Amino acid sequence: MDKKVIEELKGIVGEEWVVEEVERIQRYLVDETAEPVRPSPSLDVVLAKPKTTDEVSRILRLANKYGIPVFPRGGGTGLVGGCIPTSRGIILSLERMDAIEIDRENLMAVAEAGVTLGKLIEEAERAGLFFPPHPGDEGAQVGGLIACNAGGARAVRTGVMRNYVLGLEVVLPTGEILELGGRVLKNNTGYNLMQLFIGSEGTLGVITKAVIRLYPRFGATVTMIVPFNSRRDALRSVPAILQGGIVPLAIEYVERDLVERSAKRLGLTWPCKEGEAFLMIILAEASEEAVYLQCEKIDAICKENGALEPLVAESRREQEEILKIRSEIYTTLKPDTVDILDVVVPPARISDFMDAIDELEKRYGIYIPVYGHAGDGNLHPHIMKVDGWTAEQYERVKRDVYEIAVKLGGKITGEHGIGAIRKSYLKLCLSNEEIRIMKDIKRLLDPNNILNPGKVI
Ligand code: LAC
Ligand code: ZN
Repeated sequence: MDKKVIEELKGIVGEEWVVEEVERIQRYLVDETAEPVRPSPSLDVVLAKPKTTDEVSRILRLANKYGIPVFPRGGGTGLVGGCIPTSRGIILSLERMDAIEIDRENLMAVAEAGVTLGKLIEEAERAGLFFPPHPGDEGAQVGGLIACNAGGARAVRTGVMRNYVLGLEVVLPTGEILELGGRVLKNNTGYNLMQLFIGSEGTLGVITKAVIRLYPRFGATVTMIVPFNSRRDALRSVPAILQGGIVPLAIEYVERDLVERSAKRLGLTWPCKEGEAFLMIILAEASEEAVYLQCEKIDAICKENGALEPLVAESRREQEEILKIRSEIYTTLKPDTVDILDVVVPPARISDFMDAIDELEKRYGIYIPVYGHAGDGNLHPHIMKVDGWTAEQYERVKRDVYEIAVKLGGKITGEHGIGAIRKSYLKLCLSNEEIRIMKDIKRLLDPNNILNPGKVI
């Protein structure tokens, strides 16, 4: 990296916030992508940690002037290499921009990009409010959550990240600062540019601040685990629950083998002794009575579909443990994983999807663990390591999984995004025209292709 550029960077953010030594940058060169498909980072990089939006703007102006790539980075919890510096350039970590204000009157949080998910949850709670989704790892940061339109388990009732964003401050690759939306719940003033940046994976602008919608705290929350002996019974219960007028925060699908392995790794125990396939349902309502009424309804609906006796976890600790076991399945499988997929199909097609995966397993003689967000049709098939397999063989299976999902009316990614490693599959579900428009938008906002180049499109 050019010495002159480094000096100018230091002039913008201060000497101590520019790191050149690769040894001190290691953790900024990776994300949570499984190692076999993770892109290797360039080592010709410098790390900059701005404190203000003005500094971000000046860094982008500098980069744009010299044509230097910039890789914006949040908590680094992505699964598709989206923030990895795949060419020489500046790693732009937003971690120091971590101020947060809770606007109780309006039920909103105004958070800078570097605020972690953990801190957002905590601050909302402290103000007696609640951030309903749980879009993944609590080390994730607001800017990254929004840039990647994170999903997570609790999207069934109130949606994914983009459904919570009311306002954004964004710095364009050319340095201009945009204030989009604001502390308003409705806004039809022209095209919705704000939504364009949400899910753009750091390729169109750098998100520096956001107005995030909060909800009143629920009076009671329980986590219910409903065991089944058959997968099909478990999955056909999902639409039945929703049709029954119950909209839980989360309906997750897991299998015994996976939760037991995850629990064991965490030193915990999966609390259900019976059953092979499980629905993990998180219910949140204004009162305990309302929650228990729903539990009874769910129990009745699931039993009609062959369920065994459900387990209802009430204490916060117990519920957190169950969620942790579920959340850490990926980490548990990661050492043997080639790639974790996150296809999404229409919710009523999940069973068909799983049956097709069974066929695929037989055809290739392999094991494809699948679990995920049954309430919204977003599933995680893992491509696992197989002795003696080549990259082409894994590739073929992956493509088959994608084709199954698309044939069922689904998409190749429901939450993890495209990043660096899914670009070649875009054509499976986007038309040439759509891709052309996306490229035109990218060119319009980033004429010199400096912002997270080589990602998404
Ligand atoms: C999950 C992450 C991997 O659902 O998306 O566990
Ligand atoms: Zn997921």
